[in-house]
Amino acid sequence: MSAVPQAVRIVEVGARDGLQNEKAIVPTATKIELIDRLSATGLRTIEATSFVSPKWVPQLADAAEVFASIRREAGVSYPVLVPNLQGYERARAVGAEEVAVFTAASEAFNRKNINASIDESIDRFAPVLDRARGDGVKVRGYVSTVLGCPYQGEVPVDDVVRVARRMHALGCYEISLGDTIGIGTPSKARAMLRAVAGVVPVDALAVHFHDTRGQALANILACLEEGVAVVDSSVSGTGGCPYAKGATGNVASEDVVYMLEGMGISTGVDLEKLIETGLWLSERLGRETSSRVARASI
Ligand code: HMG
Ligand code: MG
Repeated sequence: MSAVPQAVRIVEVGARDGLQNEKAIVPTATKIELIDRLSATGLRTIEATSFVSPKWVPQLADAAEVFASIRREAGVSYPVLVPNLQGYERARAVGAEEVAVFTAASEAFNRKNINASIDESIDRFAPVLDRARGDGVKVRGYVSTVLGCPYQGEVPVDDVVRVARRMHALGCYEISLGDTIGIGTPSKARAMLRAVAGVVPVDALAVHFHDTRGQALANILACLEEGVAVVDSSVSGTGGCPYAKGATGNVASEDVVYMLEGMGISTGVDLEKLIETGLWLSERLGRETSSRVARASI
């Protein structure tokens, strides 16, 4: 087994990836309380919300109110998704200091998700990155469908490599590689990661696994063995993309922290507090948590 990193940064995406996919619109106050609770768990990166078109994602139409109302802890980043300059301006108006732009390795998914080709979407990001550079705002970049697309099926690794390289060259400090529909297996995840790490430094890569087929933890481990030290996950295992048919929740943060800490890899996260927060959220959402670790703790 290759060496795994000694420490991993968790990027908690539940308040964004999780709540964007809820059928019922979650009350603004619940979103704010969720983020405030997460801020007390030791997480250092908490994706807060998304400044996308409210016509496309009504679940997060209250992004400005949420962002303006959360208690921002020193030392914690609260990135928000922006699909274009309009989203960037809305995010900046309420004081966002880190944003994330997002595209995909498959044309078919990108068209459904943001109504643009890959090239068009990257053209839209260029002015966002220019403005961000001037404003001292950090920009993360997502590449979706890295292990398969709900519309086109197989996604060639070369396409993932090409898009990841462009996003990094544009100025994204970190590229999060998303298995949007949770279709990958460890050997495919490892091969994809290795190929991308050939053109983007591995310390600028993160992994983002949805857990549709129960492969996420195994996929994460394979990528850790390739040197990745940033993992996206979602408290209580919420998540999914409204424009990706068949995408279920992200891997649960509780399960990732349990695995990492159990392997002696430090996350800085207080697992008990995270489990408590996840159980609180699942009660609010009116369903059982999908974190196995949280269920075992009840
Ligand atoms: P469009 O309809 O092609 O764009 O949507 P448009 O420029 O014609 O705008 C349409 C309307 O939206 C206009 O309003 C704009 O002003 C408005 P109207 O004139 O009709 O009243 N608008 C906006 N309003 C607020 N904020 C904005 C904004 N932009 C335009 N930023 C667009 C293009 C990109 C806007 C749309 O497709 C969109 O918002 N898509 C977002 C979809 C989304 O959020 N998907 C989920 C996130 S990605 C994900 O979950 C994957 C990830 O987790 C990784 C993984 O798992 O792989 C990150
Ligand atoms: Mg996602």
